[in-house]
Amino acid sequence: MKGIILINAFSGIGEHQATRMQREFALLGLEVPVVRGRVGEVPYDEDFCVFLDKDLYTAKALENSGVKLFNSSEAIAVCDDKMLTSLALDGVVKQPETIPCSFCYSNTEVSESELAYIEKKLGYPLVLKLNKQSRGEGVFLVKGRSELKELITKFRDIPHLYQKFISFSSGRDTRVIVVGHKVLCAMERVNEKDFRSNVEQGGVGRYVEPCEQMQNIAVKVSKALNLEYCGIDFLVDADGEIYVVEVNSNAFFKGIEKASGVNVAGAYAKRILEVLG
Ligand SMILES: Nc1ncnc2c1ncn2[C@@H]1O[C@H](COP(=O)(O)OP(=O)(O)OP(=O)(O)O)[C@@H](O)[C@H]1O
Ligand SMILES: [Mg+2]
Repeated sequence: MKGIILINAFSGIGEHQATRMQREFALLGLEVPVVRGRVGEVPYDEDFCVFLDKDLYTAKALENSGVKLFNSSEAIAVCDDKMLTSLALDGVVKQPETIPCSFCYSNTEVSESELAYIEKKLGYPLVLKLNKQSRGEGVFLVKGRSELKELITKFRDIPHLYQKFISFSSGRDTRVIVVGHKVLCAMERVNEKDFRSNVEQGGVGRYVEPCEQMQNIAVKVSKALNLEYCGIDFLVDADGEIYVVEVNSNAFFKGIEKASGVNVAGAYAKRILEVLG
């Protein structure tokens, strides 16, 4: 059995994950080198690849060469785009009501009718998100029409979505880690200073035991999106209704390993070897 752990060609993102995975594979008796996704450095004759990047072209090229990817290029593509995730889970699990933006080739004026449609459907405040941003950087709380118009004008040709704000969960969410379609652990993130609970925005994580309903939904999501490893983010409203707000195909596990004391990397490495047989 021959495999690699692939991280981005240029950035340090994924380095910690890669080192942890490498160590856990070694403990299971397998040497798995860490490779950068740089032209000329990616081997195409491996049995498997732990793909810790978002480079869909290299991911698909590896699969076309017969390399088994964890996670698959299709699963990564769906999770890397918040609107595609929302559509893929439509009718499968409950999510905050979501409207895709108008597709735009180049910047054109915002119409009063589209503003009226969005605000009638979602009310204020509402959430506007860029489909492909992360760490809370492309997530905005919009308090009124002028702000909405301003943001749509700014992001007209950048794919984004509009979403109902689950105010009861402001600054708070629960991330559930699922490995091999089984819930492994969870963390609640709380941010007292911002509606976004991301650690990068000031959120603080602590270990929690997710309720059975949340666990069932998490497994449903991992199966529906064919994810061998993922972190699923949940919000809850005042009536106790549980919503899936985001699915991360490559959720960082540094914070959750620290908060929970659970060996996430080890569980993922074991699962990969189990799938490979
Ligand atoms: N509809 C919503 N209602 C209330 N809070 C929300 C809503 N959507 C997002 N949030 C808050 O904003 C945070 C960031 O949003 P989201 O997870 O969708 O994007 P992201 O964190 O930037 O993406 P990634 O997790 O890939 O880095 C969430 O963790 C949550 O705290
Ligand atoms: Mg998130």
